[in-house]
Amino acid sequence: MSPTGDSDLAKIFMDIVYTRRSVRRYKPEKIPLDHIRIIMEAAQRAPTDAALHLWTAIHVRDDEKKRRIAELTGQKHIDEGSDFFLFIADLYRLKKLLEYRGEEMGDVDHALLLFAAIDAGLAAENMALAAVSLGYGTCFIGAIHNATEEIIELLKLPKKTYPLFGLVVGVPDEEPPLRPRLPLEMLFHSEEYHDYSEDMLDEGYKAMAPITRRGDYLRLLKRYVGREGYFVIRNKELPRLLEKMGFKINP
Ligand SMILES: Cc1cc2nc3c(=O)[nH]c(=O)nc-3n(C[C@H](O)[C@H](O)[C@H](O)COP(=O)(O)O)c2cc1C
Repeated sequence: MSPTGDSDLAKIFMDIVYTRRSVRRYKPEKIPLDHIRIIMEAAQRAPTDAALHLWTAIHVRDDEKKRRIAELTGQKHIDEGSDFFLFIADLYRLKKLLEYRGEEMGDVDHALLLFAAIDAGLAAENMALAAVSLGYGTCFIGAIHNATEEIIELLKLPKKTYPLFGLVVGVPDEEPPLRPRLPLEMLFHSEEYHDYSEDMLDEGYKAMAPITRRGDYLRLLKRYVGREGYFVIRNKELPRLLEKMGFKINP
């Protein structure tokens, strides 16, 4: 295929990209399993570092289990959606593959966890876009980190795995607005890193204002990454939880 700026495929692709929004209201309908399979195949085809496949997704379709995860995380849309996928960093399968042929895994935990998050993110976004192309809605769920240990136990995750995020897929019952993003100039820096001028920072706040009802992006930033933000708590917990799951955190 030769590169063209305006092919039908490019238009379809960008249409899908712009149609995808986080959906938090779903109809109580189940997605047919043949559609679920297409969505899973989209994830399977995502690139994976060195063909290592550092992720696994636990497919939760059982309503009772979804309800429990929704309660644990405080995200009711997990319960409402048809299917839930928990994406985990999976070094356990690699270890098994090596040991099965008499080899051992080296000291790789830090580096592989980083790449596992990349692999999983790529696979999940492929899934989300495939779901949108079939008319479904999706929502990524980081709130699984509000109840990491309970989720590990509920879904029986073995050592050398770690939950990364969830993905809800379902029949949408809302049409959310296109949500804002920081300007392209803040996300892409030409040729080298450029620091942010005050004008640019103002532009960032202006662009992101519609993300909250009050038009206050700073409030959102403080809630997540300020001194008492959610991520401060997650950050404190992470070393202990990783150690509990069999990762060497200070080799
Ligand atoms: C890694 C990740 C974790 C997220 N966690 C949650 C979550 O726990 N609950 C939720 O409702 N939305 C969650 N979201 C959705 C974001 O809030 C959403 O993508 C963002 O506000 C932009 O909106 P849009 O997806 O409609 O463009 C998450 C998104 C990502 C990528």
